[in-house]
Amino acid sequence: MTDNWEPVVIAYLCHFCSYSAADLAGSMRLEYAPNVRISKLMCTGKVDAQFILKAFEDGADAVMVSGCEEGDCHYLEGNLRAKKRIAHVKSLLKEVGLEPERVEMYNIGASDAPKFVRAVNEMTERARKLGPNPLKKKENTVPA
Ligand code: FES
Repeated sequence: MTDNWEPVVIAYLCHFCSYSAADLAGSMRLEYAPNVRISKLMCTGKVDAQFILKAFEDGADAVMVSGCEEGDCHYLEGNLRAKKRIAHVKSLLKEVGLEPERVEMYNIGASDAPKFVRAVNEMTERARKLGPNPLKKKENTVPA
């Protein structure tokens, strides 16, 4: 590990809740780790295991998926499906030798900017403790 290594955390956020919380965190000028790279989805139900595995293949050190609170998904059960997929991805990561803690599911409501900040900081610290993604290919990395 190099001295100046910083983890890269990919965050898949649903448009209606968690992305709004991220937006609100910005409006409130809340500070959080700059390591996160946000990708907006209409719903976390869209998150496929392949998205997450590809993020790791491309060099992400951790991936978080965050949707609406359970019971509040605008597509009814998208976040519940995502929760199951994340559990499945954790087992796949184990099989390929990656720590399952590198991926996590969150439920963050649109008005809960502080929870978004805590989640980003938690995933960044987790990735920092785990160290660089060992699958990271030098020629194929997400921008730092
Ligand atoms: Fe937010 Fe489905 S719309 S998780």
